[in-house]
Amino acid sequence: MAVTAVPVDAEGLNVAAGVQTAAGAKLAVVTPGQQAPLGMTMSLSRRLALLDWARQSDAWIIEDDYLSELQLEGRAAPALASLDHGGRVLHIGSFSKTISPSLRLGFMVVPSGLSRRFAELAASLAPAPAAGMQRAVAEFLRDGHYLRHLRRMKRLYAARRESLLRCLREMAPDSIKVRATAGLAVVISLPKSASDVDIASRAREFGLAPRPMSVWCMQTPRQQGLLLCVTNLNERRLPADCRRLLELAR
Ligand SMILES: Cc1ncc(COP(=O)(O)O)c(C=O)c1O
Repeated sequence: MAVTAVPVDAEGLNVAAGVQTAAGAKLAVVTPGQQAPLGMTMSLSRRLALLDWARQSDAWIIEDDYLSELQLEGRAAPALASLDHGGRVLHIGSFSKTISPSLRLGFMVVPSGLSRRFAELAASLAPAPAAGMQRAVAEFLRDGHYLRHLRRMKRLYAARRESLLRCLREMAPDSIKVRATAGLAVVISLPKSASDVDIASRAREFGLAPRPMSVWCMQTPRQQGLLLCVTNLNERRLPADCRRLLELAR
């Protein structure tokens, strides 16, 4: 594949820029719910423009819906696939973030003419023990536990995100900016002279696992920053962990 990066802004993927730089593209891979990793939601006009492009150019769109309903601010937007009347969107969902990555379970929603083909392919990829897990998750969904679980986790994660933001903002020097995304991450922006890859690897020695933002950037100079996931932070250790991380980042 020849891969072309498309710029994103507050409205998500810049579709016009993508059409200009990669007019003949056969496939667009997008995260419209919450742009990975910064969390902005693709606007309705951009969604319609992307679907128009796919229909006119006979191209496909992979909608990677990795966070699903786990949006901590406002309501999650309906899936791009729900607006697709041309049968161009392959919607991929995952239970990695909503339940647990150890399930190794995801799903696809594809145009009905393709469902048989994808079902055959999925059946040949999934190891046999996964069938039991699939049935258990299906029951979990059917009995309403999944929705209750999501509501509970959203409340918990929103509270953790607030604690993390408060703690970091109280301690951070002026050169370091802290902000939340709509998804599960808090972003620490670093001065250009910093190396987020170095800071992230040193943080690991202290049991902290921030992800460097620069590895997500396709344009140079790469933005330097740290992505902190709010889901599994330890509230008792929070002040000490924030102090340590900011010392490394300084
Ligand atoms: C952008 C993106 N897509 C998809 C996934 C889900 O991957 P998987 O279902 O293989 O865990 C993730 C998980 O971190 C992600 O960040």
